[in-house]
Amino acid sequence: MNAAIEKLLNNQIKYEAQASMQYLAMASWADAKGYNGVADFFYSQSEEERVHMTKLVKFVNERSGHVIIPELDKSKHDFNTLNELFETFLKSEMFVTEQINHVIYECLKHKDYNVHNFMQWYVTEQLEEEAMARTLLDKLNIIGTDKSGHYLFDRDINAIAASQNKTQ
Ligand code: FEO
Repeated sequence: MNAAIEKLLNNQIKYEAQASMQYLAMASWADAKGYNGVADFFYSQSEEERVHMTKLVKFVNERSGHVIIPELDKSKHDFNTLNELFETFLKSEMFVTEQINHVIYECLKHKDYNVHNFMQWYVTEQLEEEAMARTLLDKLNIIGTDKSGHYLFDRDINAIAASQNKTQ
C-alpha cells in the first residue's frame, strides 16, 4: 500500500474512533440530564462509528498495511443546551466528510483504485449521517428553548432517525 495512503487511512481510523468517543460522551451527558431518547440515539451513533473504525482497521490489515491504534484527543463532555449537543454532532460529521473527501482525492492522485473503491461506502454513510444531523438540528432550532418541545424531541428522536433512514 502506498505510504501516503496508509497514513491517511490511519488518520481516518483516529477520526472514526474520536467520533465514537465523542458520541459516547454526548450519550452520557444526555443520559445524566434525563434525555433518554437522545442518550439512546448517541449510544447507537457511538457504536456505528466504532464499526466504521474497525472496518478500516481490518481493511488496512488485509492490504498488509501497518495499523497504528491512535491516541485520542479529549472529548467535549459538557454542553449548555440540546442545540449545542447537536451542533457538535453536525460539526463532527462535517469534519469526517471533509477528511473522507481528502482520502478520495489522494487515492485518485496516487491511482489507488482499490482504496478508492473501498472508501465509497464511507462517502454514502457520511451523506446519510450529515443529513440526519442537519434534520435534527433544524428541528431543535424550530423548537428553540421550549421545554415541552424538548420533551417531545427526546421522546421522538429515535423514530425521526429511523424514518429518515428509511427515506434514504
Ligand atoms: Fe464515521 Fe460519521 O463518521
